[in-house]
Amino acid sequence: MGRKKIIAGNWKMNMTPSEAVKLAETLKPLVNNEKADVVFGVPAIDIVPVAEAVRGTNIELAAQNMYFEEKGAYTGEISPLMLADAGVRYVILGHSERREYFKETNADINKKVLCALAHGLTPIMCCGESLEQREMGVTMDFIRQQIKEGLCEVTAEQAKGMVIAYEPIWAIGTGKTATSEQAEEVCRAIRECICEIYDADTAEAIRIQYGGSVNAGNAAELFAMPDIDGGLVGGASLKEDFGKIVFSA
Ligand code: 13P
Repeated sequence: MGRKKIIAGNWKMNMTPSEAVKLAETLKPLVNNEKADVVFGVPAIDIVPVAEAVRGTNIELAAQNMYFEEKGAYTGEISPLMLADAGVRYVILGHSERREYFKETNADINKKVLCALAHGLTPIMCCGESLEQREMGVTMDFIRQQIKEGLCEVTAEQAKGMVIAYEPIWAIGTGKTATSEQAEEVCRAIRECICEIYDADTAEAIRIQYGGSVNAGNAAELFAMPDIDGGLVGGASLKEDFGKIVFSA
């Protein structure tokens, strides 16, 4: 079990550039945990100033989205070349908010995953069921499809370095966290799905995060589960509490 925990904040559409730098400065001394990889997922416009603010620390940056072409006539989009050149290491792809509000499909997300990997960026690929799907008992069917289609043509070697974030939609921003047993059950099933697509080595290597109302009070219990390799944290990543979450790993 050599997987290092990865604790990522998803700042979503919060923090102007000057606010982002202030928050990064505040959090910097609070998240210096060598036992975990620590990631700030900041809005695109905040990447450059935050990269400057966290230079020389253990903090890595994630973008929250990316287009699947290197450059060209795609008004409003951000390319992997831009992210890599700005010092970004990770890119959150397929967040449920992007699937819902911006109609991203598994096929779109797959193109982005392949393109990110081709440019040396590590995808944090999100999946997760709605409350309705959970109540209908189709959670794992739905998530398997998200994973299989999202990872289409990704090699085992590439998959080993990736991160998957399991984020049940009913737990996002609701204060209603999945219990550690519920989260572990799905994260384990995701690992089994990776084993079916690839092999046991790949399943053992890939990191799977839980996201959805993670806070300083519930993080330790969630991160202690055998198949949960850290968290993707929304609201609580904008507060000093994020330091406590990082040290729960
Ligand atoms: P909250 O932690 O605010 O529930 O958000 C979770 C999330 O969507 C992280 O990507």
